[in-house]
This record gives sequence, structure tokens and C-alpha cells, in this order.
Amino acid sequence: MIREILRMGDPRLLRVAQPVTEFGTPQLAALLQDMRDTMAHLDGAGLAAPQIDVDLRVVIFGGMSNPRYPDAPAVPDTVLINPELVPLADEEEAGWEGCLSVPGLRGWVPRWKRLRYAGCDETGRRLERTVEGFHARVVQHECDHLDGILYPMRIRDFRLFGFTDVLNVPGVVDE
Ligand code: NI
Repeated sequence: MIREILRMGDPRLLRVAQPVTEFGTPQLAALLQDMRDTMAHLDGAGLAAPQIDVDLRVVIFGGMSNPRYPDAPAVPDTVLINPELVPLADEEEAGWEGCLSVPGLRGWVPRWKRLRYAGCDETGRRLERTVEGFHARVVQHECDHLDGILYPMRIRDFRLFGFTDVLNVPGVVDE
């Protein structure tokens, strides 16, 4: 079922979400189906449960057959629950980001360039990956949602924040 996306300014987006304690449940399966439906409907690259007003540490991302970002490197379709992120270097890389909760806007956001992330899939099986570049950016953006952080809070140079159609940024996806 396609769910409504909360938009920036809604205090529910600012909560620190709760860990998932039970895996493989019908409730978790239904949540993930709603998240997939909603993300696909809006051509998103990722979605976090708090964006549809579910206060749990669940994110999904991937599906880079996105017509709005045809040249994006492949990011596998991923369900990541109770994630932990560890940077592998101090090195940062800035890039354009958009967010389904911040429609119509883009910002230039610094992120860790390389990181290791771990968490569980919907069955509770542990997942661990070392990633960089766009994949690393998407994970950081989504996991920030679980701590009540929206990408504009990460922007350092607000000259590089504005409306998508004015900025003329090529091929940025909303997360
Ligand atoms: Ni987002």
C-alpha cells in the first residue's frame, strides 16, 4: 500500500526511532511492502520507516533502474534493520541529495566517502558490507532518518541548497 510521506517540519521526522526486536513477523513484512510500494511510486532511491510515520529502525534502498538516475552505479535492493555505520576513513565527499520528505529541493551534502555498515534483513540474518561513493551516500542519508536527521541539517554551504528546477542539477534521486 502506498503510504503518505511526512514532510520536513513534521516533528515525527525528528524522533530517534526504536530498534526492531522481532523479525520474520507479518507486521514487519507488511511494513516493508508498504515501504517498497511507496518508494517505487515516488521513484525514490531509498526510504526510511519514520518517513511513513513508523517509529522503527528500518530502511530500504536500491533499485537503481531509476529512470531519473540512469547512470547511477548499481546499488543492490537492500532491507537494512537496526543499522550500524562505521566510517573507514576521515575522508569526505560532497554530492547532491534530495529527499522525499523535502520535495522540490536539492542540497550539496558532505558524507563519509567509505564506510562499513551492518544490520539485519527482515528475517534477522546479519548483513555486512563495505561500500563507497553513491552507495555509501544513500546508506548515510537513510540511516540519518532513523536519528531524526534530514539532509539539510548536514549542509555546510547554503549557497548550494535550492529548488531542483532552479539549480538545474542533473540526475539526482530522492531518498
Ligand atoms: Ni530522505
